[in-house]
Amino acid sequence: MGLSFSSYFKRRSYAVRPLSLEDCEALAAIHEEGFSRPWTSEEFEALLRQDTVFGYAAVEEGVPDGPLCGFVLARHVAGEGEILTIVVPRKLRRRRLGHTLMEAVLRHLHAERVESLFLEVDETNGPALVLYRRLGFQQVGFRPAYYANPGAAPTNALVMRWDRTG
Ligand SMILES: CC(C)(COP(=O)(O)OP(=O)(O)OC[C@H]1O[C@@H](n2cnc3c(N)ncnc32)[C@H](O)[C@@H]1OP(=O)(O)O)[C@@H](O)C(=O)NCCC(=O)NCCS
Repeated sequence: MGLSFSSYFKRRSYAVRPLSLEDCEALAAIHEEGFSRPWTSEEFEALLRQDTVFGYAAVEEGVPDGPLCGFVLARHVAGEGEILTIVVPRKLRRRRLGHTLMEAVLRHLHAERVESLFLEVDETNGPALVLYRRLGFQQVGFRPAYYANPGAAPTNALVMRWDRTG
């Protein structure tokens, strides 16, 4: 039986939950959609085993064990946070999932009384730059020819920082 018109167009709701070691294969599969040098399941496992590393997955509301709808991985060291990676599957982009995942990291760091969050982003990555600027990140550094691009010229990285205000 087909979907009714109203349920077909019903907007899905999403929730976030902490990442666990069981997610590593799914993380590697999603990461491959976002980056030319994807991280392996083993690399994710090694990161998640570190005490300083944490992350969140987006899932459909009420389906915490369902397919991941994106994830963010971050690190908290010496009073500062750092985004290690964030990816949303291509077909689910532009639904505020990236924003929701970044907010989960900011809430986490707020609870830990962390004042600043850093990240590096390719200066040609328009969607990510819009996302970070809307959240209040500002450029604080520049790394020339930081990203190698197979078959193309290397691109520059911007270092961005978000600071708690108030
Ligand atoms: C960057 C990324 C995580 C954004 O995820 P997303 O779920 O599509 O982002 P959101 O829907 O939450 O959008 C957040 C903001 O960015 C803006 N934005 C997102 N994609 C955009 C695009 N393609 N063009 C213009 N603006 C865009 C949105 O307008 C939104 O702002 P608003 O809601 O206030 O209008 C996603 O594009 C991705 O996975 N890219 C590949 C991996 C990557 O580049 N990661 C970042 C590496 S530093």
